[in-house]
Amino acid sequence: MSTSSPPSALIDPFGRQVEYVRLSVTDKCNMRCFYCIPQGFTGFEEPENWLRFDEIERLMAAFASLGVRRVRLTGGEPLVRRNLPELAGRLSAIDGIEDLSLSTNAALLRQHAGALREAGVSRINVSLDSLDPQRFRQITRGNLEPVLSGLMEARRVGLSPVKINMVAMKGLNDSEFESMVDFCLEYGFTLRLIETMPVGDTGRDAVDRYIDLQEVRARLARRYELIPDVMPGGGPARYVRVGGTELRIGFITPISQHFCETCNRVRLAVDGTLYLCLGQEDRVEFRPMLRDGASREELRDAIVRALALKPERHEFRERPERVIRFMSQTGG
Ligand SMILES: C[S@@+](CC[C@H](N)C(=O)[O-])C[C@H]1O[C@@H](n2cnc3c(N)ncnc32)[C@H](O)[C@@H]1O
Ligand code: SF4
Repeated sequence: MSTSSPPSALIDPFGRQVEYVRLSVTDKCNMRCFYCIPQGFTGFEEPENWLRFDEIERLMAAFASLGVRRVRLTGGEPLVRRNLPELAGRLSAIDGIEDLSLSTNAALLRQHAGALREAGVSRINVSLDSLDPQRFRQITRGNLEPVLSGLMEARRVGLSPVKINMVAMKGLNDSEFESMVDFCLEYGFTLRLIETMPVGDTGRDAVDRYIDLQEVRARLARRYELIPDVMPGGGPARYVRVGGTELRIGFITPISQHFCETCNRVRLAVDGTLYLCLGQEDRVEFRPMLRDGASREELRDAIVRALALKPERHEFRERPERVIRFMSQTGG
């Protein structure tokens, strides 16, 4: 990977530099978090419409040539895409890509952590909403045990940092913030708390579980000393460090305090649709171009044109009904 980083040439109409792509490698998942994928949903993208590895590589090389430096593999659950470490290796070899990361539910991480690390994935985010097996099942329909062993394997092979993503939900896991802090302290993980977002019908159903994270922060401050901090590559989270420890806690507050003015990312769905914002419908289809054999120059031109469509901000508060697709379709 290259280490010199000239500024991104991708600047949107609001002056924001885009240097980060969240790349969904599948919309499928081996869990069913109730706020994310509808129960019984069968409308997943047909495999012939999934971008192939060579197509993803061509498109990401075009992004990198314009200044994208960071790629996150996501989904759906990225580890259900066959041969993911091979794709990771191809992406981390692209000139200009300096940071390749992964968002996962970790159910399959124990089997793949070592290969991913060798393929150039440096750090991971793991969804973990509860440490109680029953509650975990209630939220995700999955088993907690493989997730915990996946986390331990990630730590063992040296993926770092490992960030735990916990969606805060009233009446579901709001008794567990302190125990999650203690868990992260014990294993050296970073904790990120997330507000529920009205993305898709499932997300809207979860909105009555919404908790303002300012309140959670105040609650944690009664038990821990919280020192405002920064986390390199920390994205939209506002971080604190727990006094006397290395633990950082990030608060991701898309609803109570949106952070759109610093947005530096776009999202590529598994079918080659580029979404310019998680909370809006603006999009550009890249699959037809890729399948028609578009050149690097043509892809670059299309990316630059797409950037002109990036909206100023989401409207989760004002228009919560707006986003029809759910998180795993866009690439969360
Ligand atoms: C869509 S998942 C994809 C990657 C992987 N399957 C995982 O769970 O980490 C990415 C993140 O989106 C979050 N997410 C999904 N739906 C959400 C919603 N309605 N509100 C807030 N966060 C959501 C999940 O908790 C997870 O941290
Ligand atoms: S949040 Fe992640 S693990 Fe949960 S259903 Fe969505 S894609 Fe699957």
